[in-house]
Amino acid sequence: MQQNQTEIIRTEKLCRTFSSSAGEVHALRDVSLTIESGKFTILNGKSGSGKTTLINLLGALDRPTSGSIFFEGQELSAISETARDKIRRTRIGFVYQSVVLISTMTALENVEFGLRVAKYPAAERRKRALECLDQVGLLKRANHLPQEMSGGEQQRVAIARAIAHKPAAIFADEPTAQLDTTMGLQVIAVFKKLIETQGITIVMTTHDPDLMQIADKVYSLQDGALIQPEGGAAE
Ligand SMILES: Nc1ncnc2c1ncn2[C@@H]1O[C@H](COP(=O)(O)OP(=O)(O)O)[C@@H](O)[C@H]1O
Ligand SMILES: [Mg+2]
Repeated sequence: MQQNQTEIIRTEKLCRTFSSSAGEVHALRDVSLTIESGKFTILNGKSGSGKTTLINLLGALDRPTSGSIFFEGQELSAISETARDKIRRTRIGFVYQSVVLISTMTALENVEFGLRVAKYPAAERRKRALECLDQVGLLKRANHLPQEMSGGEQQRVAIARAIAHKPAAIFADEPTAQLDTTMGLQVIAVFKKLIETQGITIVMTTHDPDLMQIADKVYSLQDGALIQPEGGAAE
């Protein structure tokens, strides 16, 4: 068996401790996992179990207290802030629980704006933005403002924006938590399609146990530690 060939992320004994007025909070304890390229990975767990802390570390938004994160073979804490920034801007896309679109811009303009921030060539922005809206099934909404779209459609625009600069991986922190079941499933369907057609890697957190069956791989957190599934190792 060929090992590690499709691995995009690996963590070793990741710990993240926060200091607060109430004392130290061990948000993550010795989390070792691998994320496979082109797969749908879900980080599951109750509120407060450490999902957001973990996904922020995987996406290079935060640094661990101890332990290592390898992203495409590079150890994130061993490289400069500039290099980490570049990885974040070029290899990674983020989707959040509450959709953060600019309310005065149309769907198309929102995606184009994301491309401007990502320093994507100006001449190609419009074409690429339309291509991404098409990939999330919203070409017909290109000229609509956020308030003219449903919550699920707005989240799909946010996904179009997140994939526009052609990242290797999308990190989505509870992207369905504020949507009803139908709209939540549409968001999941878009992720699945992106995996199939673009080979993108999806890492998503959720506290909804019903969503776990759609994943290729589920890691469950409890009090900041991975729970081993019955009868096997965590990976
Ligand atoms: N910046 C912070 N300062 C102090 N404690 C934090 C901070 N961020 C998260 N925590 C704590 O770490 C634990 C895990 O939080 P989080 O990763 O947000 O969990 P989840 O996303 O699963 O709800 C919680 O106990 C939370 O209160
Ligand atoms: Mg969270």
